[in-house]
Amino acid sequence: MPLPALVIMKMLGVPRDMLFKMKEWSDDLINFVGSPRTVEDKYERARRGVIAMADFFSQLVAERRAQPKNDILTYLVEARDEQSALTDDELVAAAMLMLFAGHETTTNLLGNAVMALHANPDQWEHLRQSPGSIESAVEEFLRFDGPVLSTARVVARSHELGGHSLEEGQRMFVMLTAANRDPKVFDEPDRLDIGRKPNRHVTFGKGAHFCLGAPLARLEAKTAFNELLKRFQRIEVAKPIEELDWIDAMVMRGVRALPVRLHR
Ligand code: HEM
Repeated sequence: MPLPALVIMKMLGVPRDMLFKMKEWSDDLINFVGSPRTVEDKYERARRGVIAMADFFSQLVAERRAQPKNDILTYLVEARDEQSALTDDELVAAAMLMLFAGHETTTNLLGNAVMALHANPDQWEHLRQSPGSIESAVEEFLRFDGPVLSTARVVARSHELGGHSLEEGQRMFVMLTAANRDPKVFDEPDRLDIGRKPNRHVTFGKGAHFCLGAPLARLEAKTAFNELLKRFQRIEVAKPIEELDWIDAMVMRGVRALPVRLHR
């Protein structure tokens, strides 16, 4: 959790000692998309997280306006003030989106990849023998068990798709993880193959809203696994996989905690 969170915090210009506050607000905020309807206080918690984070960023924006620094928040303030490229609310919302989108997802990517390697020790060994495969390995972690299950869309015009009728205004979830296991696109889709090429997964979405942070997420995963490979012979999940506590949501995919044993 701290790795992606501290990186995006530093890029935005959020002080390091805010880590656990950011995590708490993000956990509250994530209830908008990251928890099922059965969580009774989900909207109340989400609201709390949004307000706290928005207040914090509004204050930080004022500080940067008074005293610019070399961080993304300052660039956004300049875009606002010098080019009128966005409104004050949009500025704060953009900072919040980057902070929130920039760590929950990558945290879960790292966790899901550790689980995949635990279940496929031959692939961990393969990666140890050929560290040059790290780029294709990260693409395969993204495909095999990506941290974002779906994206949501609202139907603009009623139409038929795949034998189903979609009505204008309906909300639909596009299951990215299902597309990533499509046997028409991927040979043996249920197999983790760190050398897989081509690997045209859709884990970062597609089109106008394609993930802004894809290069950063890729770099973080590459860095994290390069370090793990250097330092440890083997990583083992220290709890039976069936007993892990999964996030119960349509969008986020990952476990709430992942105990691991690291062998030197
Ligand atoms: C493995 C990690 C990540 C995954 C799987 C992921 C996935 C996605 C997906 C699927 C979308 C498209 C949403 C849609 O179409 O409705 C998206 C958008 C976005 N992501 Fe990521 N993301 C990751 C990491 C990051 C990071 C590190 C950042 C940091 C800045 C980030 C920032 C954003 C932003 C700002 C958008 C909205 C883009 C827009 O609407 O134009 N993401 N991400």
